[in-house]
Amino acid sequence: MQTQKIDNPLILSDKRRKILDTLSEMNEVVDSDDYVSRRFTFYDSGAFRNVYKLGRNYVLKVAIDEDGREHNLHEIELSKKNYYFLTKIYDYTENGNWLIAEKVAKLDRPQFCNVFNFHYYAWEKIVIYEVDTKLNRVPYEIRTPISTIEKKKILSHKFTKDIINFCVENKLAPRDIVKVSSLGMKKNREVCVIDYGLTYKEYIKINEEGMYGGD
Ligand SMILES: Nc1ncnc2c1ncn2[C@@H]1O[C@H](COP(=O)(O)OP(=O)(O)O)[C@@H](O)[C@H]1O
Ligand SMILES: [Mg+2]
Repeated sequence: MQTQKIDNPLILSDKRRKILDTLSEMNEVVDSDDYVSRRFTFYDSGAFRNVYKLGRNYVLKVAIDEDGREHNLHEIELSKKNYYFLTKIYDYTENGNWLIAEKVAKLDRPQFCNVFNFHYYAWEKIVIYEVDTKLNRVPYEIRTPISTIEKKKILSHKFTKDIINFCVENKLAPRDIVKVSSLGMKKNREVCVIDYGLTYKEYIKINEEGMYGGD
C-alpha cells in the first residue's frame, strides 16, 4: 500500500520517515490497532478511530473497522478543500487505515461560550436545524427555547455561517460535527473541527443501528 505524503515542513524528515515506515508496515498486518498500540502513545478514542499522540503537534488516527476507514477517507477528501476551520491532515494511507492530523487542544462548552459569547447548546441546535432545512431533510425540532436576539446573534456569526455552508456544500450530517467532542482549539485560539468525516449515509446507518439513541 502506497503512503501519500503531503508537504509539511514541521515534521523533521527522518523522524517523519521513521513514523511513515512503521505505519507502512502496518498495512501488511491484520490487527493494525494492536500493532499501533505497541508502538505509539494512546491519546483518546471515538466511535470509529483510536487516536495516538505523535509528539506535541500531531495525532495519528487509526480506523477500528471498515466504518472507521470510510470516515478517515472522507476526512482526507474534505481536508483537501482547505476549509480554514478543519484540522489539517498531513499524511495518510490510500485504504484509509490511518491518517496523521494536526493536534489541537480540546474544547469544552464554557470555553466555546467564552470564545463566541453565545451558548453552545443554542448554537448546536441552530446549526443542525439550518442544515437539515437547507438540505430538505426532516427539519430538526428545536425543543429548547432560544430567544430571537440570541438566534440572530448566532446566525449572523461568521463561524456559524461557515459551518452551515460546509455541511450543506458537502451534504454532511451536522450532528456529529457540532458535538463539542468534535471541536477543538488551534494555537491561535480559533475554534476548529477535528472530527468531520461522517457522511449523512453513514450517520443514518449508525442511527438506525441505535448507536446514538436519538438526540
Ligand atoms: N486533531 C486532533 N487533535 C486533538 N485531539 C484529537 C484530534 N482528533 C481526534 N482527537 C481526539 O480523539 C478523540 C476521537 O477522535 P475523533 O476524530 O472524534 O474520532 P471518531 O471519528 O472515532 O469519533 C476526540 O474526541 C479527541 O479527543
Ligand atoms: Mg468523534
